[in-house]
Amino acid sequence: MSTDVRIYEVGPRDGLQNEPLPVSTDVKLRFVELLGNAGLREIEATSFVSPRAVPQLADADDLLARLERRPGVRYPVLVPNQRGMSRALAAGADAIAVFTAASDEFSRHNIGMTIDESIVAFAPVVSSASARGMWTRGYVSAAFGCPYTGDVPESAVVGVAQRLLDIGVDELSIGDTIGVGGPRDVRRVVAALGEAGIGPDRLAMHFHDTRGTAAANVASSLELGVRCFDASTGGTGGCPYAPGAAGNLATEDLVYLLDREGLRHGVDLDGVLTAARFISQALGRPLASKVGQAGGWPK
Ligand code: HMG
Ligand code: MG
Repeated sequence: MSTDVRIYEVGPRDGLQNEPLPVSTDVKLRFVELLGNAGLREIEATSFVSPRAVPQLADADDLLARLERRPGVRYPVLVPNQRGMSRALAAGADAIAVFTAASDEFSRHNIGMTIDESIVAFAPVVSSASARGMWTRGYVSAAFGCPYTGDVPESAVVGVAQRLLDIGVDELSIGDTIGVGGPRDVRRVVAALGEAGIGPDRLAMHFHDTRGTAAANVASSLELGVRCFDASTGGTGGCPYAPGAAGNLATEDLVYLLDREGLRHGVDLDGVLTAARFISQALGRPLASKVGQAGGWPK
């Protein structure tokens, strides 16, 4: 199995979308710059969603237009519909992510559409992105549990994953939106996807660390052959439409874990810690991540 792992940074998007106090566009741009300095090569920059749904990211057009792109770095943005796609294109997006769920109830709360409706809405968005040579990702949220309906069967995850692949997304991100799953759930979900012909090479895993299981879930995913993980520098994050969700797995905690496993990822821990300190200071809170508090090892 490959020893190379992709770290997909979601700090500027997932990390900030649920913050109650406004964060300036300048601070966000500096954060993205520091993440690039740390060697991150995939940085989800913002969302072209309704500004009423996510006021914190209402500056998406300005932010993306002003963002200084580094060669070799991808800056995906969330797009929920054709309107979001037009805005993303006008601002110069190079990659997009559409987002649905394994639970109809969560999908309705989050994007005002059932799963079926979301696939219908995303199909033209993904095909127009692909026709322009843009990279595309499809999120499957609530894959390990739904804040409105409880447990989610793996068959629901497989069903929506297959439909996202059918409309042409390049990669799936399987989300534990509210951080309820453990390693056994990871094995169950990844095995069911595999049995349906969706191998670990098509997957990223997106763990919120609400109950402290994210690192164990990454370890379990690694053993199953998954080689892409979403994480948020500083451990920020949460979805406004997922009550009870806490921050994402912190990028610094992920980097440390991968380093200890001897896996290559191209990201510099000190650089991530610099970005983590910057954003936690901007948000006015101490760093919550374990490695943010303890530092790396050896010192
Ligand atoms: P809606 O209200 O059902 O639909 O929103 P609508 O078409 O009636 O639009 C309502 C208003 O929004 C209208 O404005 C539209 O013009 C406007 P009004 O006429 O009332 O002034 N609008 C837009 N404005 C700007 N950009 C757009 C856009 N679309 C409509 N693209 C909609 C449906 C999907 C727009 C809304 O529900 C929405 O934006 N939802 C986004 C929610 C969101 O961003 N959630 C967080 C991201 S998902 C997540 O965090 C999970 C993830 O991290 C993985 C995991 O953890 O599992 C990815
Ligand atoms: Mg998330």
